[in-house]
Amino acid sequence: MIDFDGFPRLTTDRLVLREPVTTDAADILVFRSDPVAQRYNSAPLRDLDESRGLIEEIRDVYANRAGVIWAVTLTETGRVIGIFGFDGWDTYHRRAQVGYDLSRDLWGRGLATEALAAILAYGFSELGLHRVEAQTIADNEESVRLLGRLGFQREGTRRDHSFEEDGLFHDGAIYGLLAPERP
Ligand SMILES: CC(C)(COP(=O)(O)OP(=O)(O)OC[C@H]1O[C@@H](n2cnc3c(N)ncnc32)[C@H](O)[C@@H]1OP(=O)(O)O)[C@@H](O)C(=O)NCCC(=O)NCCS
Repeated sequence: MIDFDGFPRLTTDRLVLREPVTTDAADILVFRSDPVAQRYNSAPLRDLDESRGLIEEIRDVYANRAGVIWAVTLTETGRVIGIFGFDGWDTYHRRAQVGYDLSRDLWGRGLATEALAAILAYGFSELGLHRVEAQTIADNEESVRLLGRLGFQREGTRRDHSFEEDGLFHDGAIYGLLAPERP
């Protein structure tokens, strides 16, 4: 079980997931300022200051023991290519929400699946989670496919839940994965 004494470091075949630090701001800005990647996510970041602000926010999640959010790096280069993690951790109900984003130049290679599988394994074993929840825009096809590949079930729809850059309202989709169901 996690004791918050030192940030957990995870490794997979192609990735190292580690503590996010302020000096990651330039790498993170690359994908979090991408309007295409961010079309169904929060507003694109505009500059390094905003990127540092995001890093502070995700570090605070760990500092406040509300979850663990990792900087995902490519083992080969050390470049930060994504942010994956848990927030909203409820230790009584043993549930948390998962979030993820990956640099668009690396989509379609299975890297998000690899990172998400690693953090789910960590969440179920080390955080003692029973339920992992994901909320995504129903039209976010890559995100929906990613959740499906890892065994998440769609549990509901929030009609017209968000107003997006394309000037339209989009349904929100709620997904859940329970510990006994994990692949
Ligand atoms: C959601 C997101 C992380 C998914 O990324 P992704 O690249 O589609 O997912 P993966 O890296 O796991 O790649 C999977 C694809 O690679 C293919 N692939 C290629 N090589 C592979 C390999 N070695 N192993 C597994 N899959 C591989 C798979 O077949 C799959 O293709 P498909 O989508 O056509 O079925 C990405 O689209 C993203 O960052 N979006 C923007 C941020 C966002 O919207 N986040 C969600 C907010 S709720």
